[in-house]
Amino acid sequence: TVPMWLDCDPGHDDMLAIMLAVHHPGISLIGISTVQGNQTLAKVTDNAARSLFLAGAKRDVIPGSTDPILRAPQQCAEIHGESGLGGLTSAFWDTVDFDPEPMIIRPESPFAEIAQRIISASKARSCRVKLVATGAQTNIAILLKAFPELKKHIEVVFMGGTYNMGNTGSFSEFNIQCDPEAAAIVAASGVPVTMVPLDVTHTVTITEAVKTQMAEGMGATKLHDVLVKLLGFFEETYREVFHFDHPPVHDPCAVLFAVAPELFETKAVHLAVETQGMCAGATCCDMYGFQKQEPNATVCTKLDVPAFWDAMIAALARANKL
Ligand code: BDR
Ligand code: CA
Repeated sequence: TVPMWLDCDPGHDDMLAIMLAVHHPGISLIGISTVQGNQTLAKVTDNAARSLFLAGAKRDVIPGSTDPILRAPQQCAEIHGESGLGGLTSAFWDTVDFDPEPMIIRPESPFAEIAQRIISASKARSCRVKLVATGAQTNIAILLKAFPELKKHIEVVFMGGTYNMGNTGSFSEFNIQCDPEAAAIVAASGVPVTMVPLDVTHTVTITEAVKTQMAEGMGATKLHDVLVKLLGFFEETYREVFHFDHPPVHDPCAVLFAVAPELFETKAVHLAVETQGMCAGATCCDMYGFQKQEPNATVCTKLDVPAFWDAMIAALARANKL
């Protein structure tokens, strides 16, 4: 199995990324860290524990950064709601009587703790740990700067960026726009980096056919009910804000790349992240080699979407223990 550490900001699609990382048979999820983004650090950390509970799993959740490296935090309530997991009310959480706190660990030096856990997993398995980032890359940049020895123990796969149009800026995607300086540090770090951009994740939407496949794969269970509520909320906000008929599920695509890269088409490119002016957060992927620079990243250009849903729904069926 592939050893994985997931850094996320749940968030509806981060919640699905957690479910896939926990229940894909090819992945060993070592732990989870959180970063502010879709909501505040306190809320996304709580939501990571809640997502694990929904997945019927236990892992340590370590809160990371409350703020981007240089910029003010910006949240995304218009898509994910005030709680970050809009669609599930506190009345629901009262019925299940779940306390997220025991799953959250708060070491004195969270980054040292995360680095140490990743390095020991890498040494034990004699391979690089897949560090999958599905939020802003603040934590990853801090880890690489503070613990450079990590570089030989990880491979970064991130959901974020675009080589066409952005979703929160003309050319910028939300995760990168939240903390462009962090993404620039990661891209230039020399670590193997793969970008799973909007261009790919926008092809993975929860269509009516997917809803049927999910209902058939999961059966009439409590978890299925919960997902219908969560994903229904996500569908509505995506319709309102972006006029999408069906919402895209960005984050689990990065988890899938880490375990099944053969399901993707990719290109080796030179990736530079713009940090200045109105294009801050743009991910410049030199698709045609204009800059005559050595590639420093792999960018995904296509995903086998039916294969994604087969893997995702199989994971949800295994998670079905609520
Ligand atoms: C990304 O932004 C967040 O809102 C989602 O969770 C995803 O990681 C898509 O732009
Ligand atoms: Ca996310």
